Amino acid sequence: STGRTTGGVHKALADIHAAHPLDTSKMTAFPLDEVTGVSPEFPGSCYYMILHEVVIPLGIPLEHFVYLPTRSDNFPEDCKAFVGALAARGGIDLMVLGLGENGHLGFNQPGTPFGQSAWHSWMMPELEQRLRRESGTGPDVRMGGVTLGILEIMQSRKIVMAANGAHKAAMVKAMLTGPVSEAVPASILQLHPDCEVILDPAAAAEL
Ligand code: GLP
Repeated sequence: STGRTTGGVHKALADIHAAHPLDTSKMTAFPLDEVTGVSPEFPGSCYYMILHEVVIPLGIPLEHFVYLPTRSDNFPEDCKAFVGALAARGGIDLMVLGLGENGHLGFNQPGTPFGQSAWHSWMMPELEQRLRRESGTGPDVRMGGVTLGILEIMQSRKIVMAANGAHKAAMVKAMLTGPVSEAVPASILQLHPDCEVILDPAAAAEL
């Protein structure tokens, strides 16, 4: 996942790798999701962030970087190809997630069915406004997010969910102690057999 939270996770990982190099020659990296309607070279695209935060710093071979397109005339086909490419590599060993302020996982917004497979979703209006401004994307271009679905997220062998800051506290509480409900996509993680949650004190304040 890309964003402020997992950006910090990626930085820590790159620092560990610089101090104690890992063998990444057989590792495959993939973004969980992607902003649509922008150039892949836009620094806010998930392709750009995973490339520069993970793939290059860890020395993962470029041919082992699998990603979703930012622009396409057939996102459903692209989603299928992406899921197929991950399956061909043996499925997802480790999924690192951030928590949306509205409880989203990737671009799976509140109300997304738990059985949802990879798809092209809408984006929170606040995020869309910011990304339009930063990327210079006009109102004529449709923006959204392609994302692995809740289905593929839950099929990951291990999940690490990280959240920090007081602005996440209410959603952390809903995710971990509220009902498992499609109204809070992240609440499904209560049912995952191997999900580790890492919080700072501010994000954990309501627990
Ligand atoms: C974005 C991304 C998610 C990310 C989340 C949290 O919308 N699509 O994959 O996990 O928001 O971002 P942040 O850590 O910046 O709060």
